[in-house]
Amino acid sequence: MSPEPKSEQNPAERIAQLREAVRRHQYRYYVLDDPEIGDQEFDALFHELRALEEAHPDLQRADSPTVRVGGQVAQRFEKVAHPVPMLSLANAFDEADLRAWRERIRRLLGEDDLAALAYIVEPKFDGLTVVLHYEDGRFVLGATRGDGQVGENITANLRTVGQLPLRIPADATADLPPPARLAVRGEAYVDKADFAAFNARQEAAGDRTYANPRNFAAGSLRQLDSAISAQRPLKIWAYQILLLEGEAHPPATQGESLAYLQAYGFPVSPLVTRFTDEEFEALVARVMQFGAVRHDLPYEVDGLVIKVDSLAQQAALGFTGKDPRWAVAYKYAGEEAVTKLLDIVVNVGRTGAITPQAVLEPVTIGGVTVSNATLHNEDYVRDLDIRIGDQVLVIRAGEVIPKVLRPLVDLRDGSETPWTMPADCPVCGQPLVRPEGEAATYCVNNACPAQLVRAVEYFVSRSAMDVEGFGIRQAELFVEKGYIRDLADIYSLPWDEILELEGYKAKRVENLRAGVEASKDRPVWRLLTGLGVRFVGEVVAQLIMADYHGLDKLMAADAEGLSAIDGIGPRIAESVTEYFSLAPNRALVQEFAAAGVRIADEAPVAPAGPAALPFAGKTFVVTGTLPTLSRDDAKAFIQQGGGKVTGSVSGKTDYLVVGENPGSKLIKAEQLGVPVLTEEELVRLGAPGSSPAG
Ligand code: IVH
Repeated sequence: MSPEPKSEQNPAERIAQLREAVRRHQYRYYVLDDPEIGDQEFDALFHELRALEEAHPDLQRADSPTVRVGGQVAQRFEKVAHPVPMLSLANAFDEADLRAWRERIRRLLGEDDLAALAYIVEPKFDGLTVVLHYEDGRFVLGATRGDGQVGENITANLRTVGQLPLRIPADATADLPPPARLAVRGEAYVDKADFAAFNARQEAAGDRTYANPRNFAAGSLRQLDSAISAQRPLKIWAYQILLLEGEAHPPATQGESLAYLQAYGFPVSPLVTRFTDEEFEALVARVMQFGAVRHDLPYEVDGLVIKVDSLAQQAALGFTGKDPRWAVAYKYAGEEAVTKLLDIVVNVGRTGAITPQAVLEPVTIGGVTVSNATLHNEDYVRDLDIRIGDQVLVIRAGEVIPKVLRPLVDLRDGSETPWTMPADCPVCGQPLVRPEGEAATYCVNNACPAQLVRAVEYFVSRSAMDVEGFGIRQAELFVEKGYIRDLADIYSLPWDEILELEGYKAKRVENLRAGVEASKDRPVWRLLTGLGVRFVGEVVAQLIMADYHGLDKLMAADAEGLSAIDGIGPRIAESVTEYFSLAPNRALVQEFAAAGVRIADEAPVAPAGPAALPFAGKTFVVTGTLPTLSRDDAKAFIQQGGGKVTGSVSGKTDYLVVGENPGSKLIKAEQLGVPVLTEEELVRLGAPGSSPAG
């Protein structure tokens, strides 16, 4: 696409070019779930096209992407016609747009109707639109938005979404008669934290990651195999009634519609507010304030939707083209920005991995000044042909490190220079190595000071030894001064010399020293974490130490013994044994011991009599929605009974506890012959005096 209109271009040409670009980007966004450009960039193209068409009505066409709802239907799912067209929303980007929208509504409604005019303000959830159909209280069909007229049948996948009521009212005691027919519009999404955790797991396993929570949600819902969807942490918000039949008291407003949906068991946002027309200033203030807090929400919200509350007024206002006049989406300035790539430098990580880093002309993205962004690895820079001097598109999604998405090739003037990975480590000067088949390049010099700094930083961090007052600055300083040559040197720092350093007054040094001293007595999994063995983070270290209780025993372990631990695969097991097979690493452990650092936990207390805990030695998996216990409650109940809870069903699982919507775990359990319990059976089994039969 060409973002800049060429001035000599005639309108017909430009319109044709824009239509082509808009169609292509809509296809990438809606059908492939793989957009090339961000919302803001897309909106700019779309608005330019609409403005040109308005200025040249003779060039308007019935098939322009401005007159139909965006998107196409992917061929692999069955098609479903929507009960009403699935409209989209016109956008407002500032206060003036909002006020203009209001004025138009006031004008169209006329004096008589103004007294009753009020607005509902809802979050604009950034997920995937879904249409949910219920007949006589049963969920019978679920579809994607598709092209607005026809969507894709994803019923099987939606059934796996825990929050989606399969029967309404979801609460059987609610004494509400189900309507004969109901169709609901909602948004399927995943929480930011669930997205990050999923990507981290995928990355560790070398599998495909998703660019953002929206793509993750979309990708998860469009799996042809619903067992995969079932394992994805999908959630849902319901926000519109599309069709309602056989209801004696149908809602008359959007506010009542939301209350209705909530009463029947749909997740409805608690962040909805209502304003009368007279309170419009307060509405504007709400919109502005929300922009600052939306990032703190656990899920992504890219704006607010403001809707006329009365459904009768909505009907009177109608729509233009594909947008209702009665609603508008207020969109906050995006999380993307374009800036100049000044340079590419490389960072040396704790494992010696070399990451190219973009040095950017500082730019504000979502209220934060960004001057660095990651470029992942050598191939990323090469495949995207990112050159020094390029204008680049930078994204900052939630809490994660900003990243360069791509160069804007059309803006090149020829002065840009390609980049290549340096041959030598910028810190120690030793040659860099890229193992065959790996995307990452490494500095393999164990004595590289950059690695040591990172290793120390990690060792003292909260995830590992949690040394108070010790951070990256101290790591850099003490390595530079030569006080720290290996991790154990942290326990023999020359405190008298440190007292002489600038900024290290007696009090500060005393605190630092106390922090170091206190860390000697941490549970041994923290020391194991701090060693920075590949694939051994805090969770894995705890799993290992729950079995081995000490580094002495662990050093003697073989890979087979380690992989017998639930949750430890062969890759981790090998990494651990490889680490301790190296003499310097074994010597390091002895140094810690000599310095008084605890390398083994106290012997575990021998279990009391056999009948003491009902679930002792048993491993459980919990799946689906239980009738009364939450997932966490069920877990706590099992653990209090001496049992263990794991995430996936395997040969080592003793029981699968199932609720509604169990998904693939139940199938797996049945295949493996793992006994299945209901919540009631679980509770009975855990009651004092009973002991599991298995
Ligand atoms: S109302 C006719 N309300 O934003 C009005 N849409 O183009 C229909 N969205 O993909 C939409 N949160 O699915 C409405 N609270 C909300 C929404 C919302 C997210 C989505 C919608 C559509 C896009 C707007």
